[in-house]
Amino acid sequence: MNLSRSHSSGGRMQILTFVNQKGGCGKTTTAINLAGALAARGERVLVVDLDPQAHATMGLGCDGSEGDTVAEVLLDEAYIEQAIRSAPGGLDLLPSKPRLNEFEERSERLIHPEQRLRIALDAVRDRYDYVIVDCPPRTDGVLCANAMYACTTALLVVETGAFALQGALQALKVLDEVGENQGRDYAIRVVGTLFDRRTRFARELLVALHGRFGEAMFDTVIRTSVRLREAPALGVTVNLLDPSCRATADFAALAAEVVEVTAQDAEASPLSAGVSGATTDY
Ligand SMILES: Nc1ncnc2c1ncn2[C@@H]1O[C@H](COP(=O)(O)OP(=O)(O)O)[C@@H](O)[C@H]1O
Ligand SMILES: [Mg+2]
Repeated sequence: MNLSRSHSSGGRMQILTFVNQKGGCGKTTTAINLAGALAARGERVLVVDLDPQAHATMGLGCDGSEGDTVAEVLLDEAYIEQAIRSAPGGLDLLPSKPRLNEFEERSERLIHPEQRLRIALDAVRDRYDYVIVDCPPRTDGVLCANAMYACTTALLVVETGAFALQGALQALKVLDEVGENQGRDYAIRVVGTLFDRRTRFARELLVALHGRFGEAMFDTVIRTSVRLREAPALGVTVNLLDPSCRATADFAALAAEVVEVTAQDAEASPLSAGVSGATTDY
């Protein structure tokens, strides 16, 4: 199955999954603010919060405790259309709540539980240009498996701190294994975040990451910014909080690259997981 290639024909919905087995590396921050930047460019964007901790949901000013969420959709209790809500900046959101853990618990008794998100998203595929999926820290659970099964591109978020390269290589190996197990062939892209250019270490690390990941690494790196901590507390993406801050500029640049490369990925990607075995060298 090669979803990305089948998408190239009609320029249809791209599903980008943000992964890393590490928590606190900037996945949620990168996911919601990239979504905001894509929406600001006029793209139709749905954010899917697949983390029971519901950080993306809260960061977009929504309360998952009321109404249907991704939990009810995956548990087959609600249609996706019922659970999608409007979020600031013209985004749509499929929110999460702690009950999502129940899906994880019940999944052992379900047939192909990892396919449920993709099946649900099929129902809205004409409505969106981009679906941005924010994953929980664990890459070995059924939630991440759902995200990987649905995605056209897996976005590996790398915090540009100590052991970043080792962590990224390990995460890449996991992505490759998941892809292989699922018989999927999605593109893999790497984005650096929490970058502090004042430290020589961070600058050197960036060079190392580019050397290792080559084309798969985005040129844009998300710098450390206080605004990125403030925005989710106010329930908005950073471009709405401060259109002229450097974080807004970083995400606008990342969004431009994403639009460009996802179109390319639909043709052929520099790195891909699973059946191609292209990442075995990493
Ligand atoms: N570029 C950044 N600049 C400043 N703070 C950031 C940045 N990216 C993430 N953070 C902060 O780091 C913490 C972890 O980020 P988060 O996106 O929640 O990570 P994850 O989803 O991987 O657990 C949060 O407090 C967030 O506000
Ligand atoms: Mg998170």
